[in-house]
Amino acid sequence: MSQRGRLDRRSFLTRAGLAAVAGAVSPTVAAGARVARAMQPSGGRYDFDTIYSRIGTDSSKWDAQIAKYGRAHVEVGMGTADQDFQIAPAITRALRVRVAHENYGYLTIPASYKESIVDWNRRRYGLEIAPESIMHSAGVHEGIISTLRAFCPPGSKVLLQTPAYDGFYTDIRVVGAAVEESPLRRAEDGRYHMDFEDLERRIDHDTHAVILCNPHNPTGNVWSRADLMTLGEICTRRRVVVLADEIHCDFVTRGNHYTPYATLDDEAIVRNSITYKSVSKSFNLSMMKCAYLFSTNPDHLVRIRGAGQHREEMNTLGIIAAEAASTACDDWLDQLVDYIDGTQTLVESFVRARIPGVRTLKPEGTYLAWLDVTEALERVGAAQTAAASGAETAETVFQRYLVDHANIHINAGSSYGLGGGGHMRMNIATSRQLVELALTNMAEALSAV
Ligand SMILES: Cc1ncc(COP(=O)(O)O)c(C=O)c1O
Repeated sequence: MSQRGRLDRRSFLTRAGLAAVAGAVSPTVAAGARVARAMQPSGGRYDFDTIYSRIGTDSSKWDAQIAKYGRAHVEVGMGTADQDFQIAPAITRALRVRVAHENYGYLTIPASYKESIVDWNRRRYGLEIAPESIMHSAGVHEGIISTLRAFCPPGSKVLLQTPAYDGFYTDIRVVGAAVEESPLRRAEDGRYHMDFEDLERRIDHDTHAVILCNPHNPTGNVWSRADLMTLGEICTRRRVVVLADEIHCDFVTRGNHYTPYATLDDEAIVRNSITYKSVSKSFNLSMMKCAYLFSTNPDHLVRIRGAGQHREEMNTLGIIAAEAASTACDDWLDQLVDYIDGTQTLVESFVRARIPGVRTLKPEGTYLAWLDVTEALERVGAAQTAAASGAETAETVFQRYLVDHANIHINAGSSYGLGGGGHMRMNIATSRQLVELALTNMAEALSAV
């Protein structure tokens, strides 16, 4: 299938430049977001189906893979966890207003931006965050790294429930701490559960933090209030601080419910935690660098600022975009969450009916599909190839197999630590046309072996 609207780099930049001069002039930083709010869309349908090509925009999910494997082999890029959709129009409008004012000097982060974070969490999740407990951060990673630096001396252990988002391994390595893996238990039905006994057994005098991921990347689990309470009770009793990464919280499939860690009914458990969030995952603003962290425990914040050397840095356009997203785009996000839900249903039924050697369950949250490819690995002899190479895992061999034979790029489960073996992670935040194309290609490639 050829992609409609494909961009080359030059035309992309030209069009971006034209867009920049189209807005009205306004000298203040917050003006863009205010305009977005005033121009709230009237409830029409947004189009997530039309393919919005990102090729030629230096996208890591697309362009980096094309550079590595060639255009012919990357018909669909489904690795890096971002979206391919055109962003909510109110964000673009707000940015246009701001770029019409051609100066990007130092600024004071406007109070309206922090208010937009507080309102968003209250409106969407009934979560009350005191404005003074919020610290800005250029990304969730930056916040987690500052926290680890503050709480986890080099050589100490940080708990991860695995398989776990590969970025956490990097964060822990950056501060010189060591990863302690507590594998999730996989039940007969394929669902994952926290193994509390294992988790507690791994805590010793050198363990100071656990990184909780809810919804969970890569399995898509959304943890229940009871799970969080049990985890919280253990960690509070054993003096292990909980770093709750809730960046995927806006994507929860029908029938499931996200519980913010900070809404647990135990003050001590909540005080023993720090939460990390951003609208970047929800509205595709990753490189706008607009995240935040908060805690009801002021001592934690002091420690993150001091020992963690956290700098509350953001950038002009990130502030505008994030404020517009959290004040004027609920309708866009609600429609997108519905769209993703439908795509997740499609993936589950397509895989079950048509892809030999692969199994999956509709996840409870995230826009990621977690594929059990144990049998497919055998079909293509991935373990033998990996053993012969000495440098690969069966999953990276399979990743390459799919690039070569199905023209799709998805992530190898082995990069998510213990329990990631035998799995692949597929990002489905793209037009359903492309998801169907990828699944069809995969079915054909595996039917041939
Ligand atoms: C669980 C999780 N945390 C953090 C990040 C990265 O966040 P940021 O780009 O704000 O550093 C990701 C990105 O995929 C993620 O999946």
